[in-house]
Amino acid sequence: MRFDERADSYEAHAAPQKRFAEALAAFAPFRRGARVTELGAGTGFLTAALLAQGVNVDATDASPAMVELGRQAVPAASWSVHNAFGPIEPAKALASTGLLHWAGDPAAVLRHWRAALPAGGRLLLGVPCDPCLNELRDLIGEGPVRWRDESQWLALLKGAKFDVHAHGVLEAEEVYPSALDFFRTLHRSGVTGDPRFSPTELRSLLRDYDRLHAHKDGVVATWAWLVVDATAG
Ligand SMILES: C[S@@+](CC[C@H](N)C(=O)[O-])C[C@H]1O[C@@H](n2cnc3c(N)ncnc32)[C@H](O)[C@@H]1O
Repeated sequence: MRFDERADSYEAHAAPQKRFAEALAAFAPFRRGARVTELGAGTGFLTAALLAQGVNVDATDASPAMVELGRQAVPAASWSVHNAFGPIEPAKALASTGLLHWAGDPAAVLRHWRAALPAGGRLLLGVPCDPCLNELRDLIGEGPVRWRDESQWLALLKGAKFDVHAHGVLEAEEVYPSALDFFRTLHRSGVTGDPRFSPTELRSLLRDYDRLHAHKDGVVATWAWLVVDATAG
């Protein structure tokens, strides 16, 4: 992932992430006046949706560039730079979208998040899950993320002693003018890792994607997000 490097171009290339963040907030709204710590807030898609519900948001992200943009975009939240993958500050409630799948050991991260909450404290979680980007993964293989399905994520939450009250997978097809546009969008949103393909291999991948996933307006990619409303057990 290259979120700090690509912070300036993230928002313009993160339409699915924005829709899922808004859907997550609507899926299980917080009580008006609640105080919520957001982890991996990026430029503030979920932050803005929570604030619109009357929630007080302490928005955090590991990337200083993202925090700066978030502060400008959503000034009503309180913003700070924090790593969410180690021990975190005590919080009354946690919210996060589009972050946890980047952790090398999400089970350990969830245990840290559980330890930061009082018993009964809420976790509102959105995380990409299988079949997200399956068309691309069929062509290039797994990586930089290890993809899990809904039941694997729910097992991790249970293992970290979260009680899941409601969950569901939101799935949407996104259409891009071409495979090249799709790959560029991913790149500019910061979700790609180090280059893995030579220019020749890349050209061949793009040709395959254009052919295999053609749509009348270009090419199609599936996006899928698990949304979870849980409390610390
Ligand atoms: C795909 S973006 C999602 C941002 C935002 N939640 C959204 O839905 O648009 C992932 C975010 O997680 C942040 N991030 C990555 N690793 C992190 C970590 N260890 N601790 C906190 N934030 C992290 C990145 O800087 C980036 O802003």
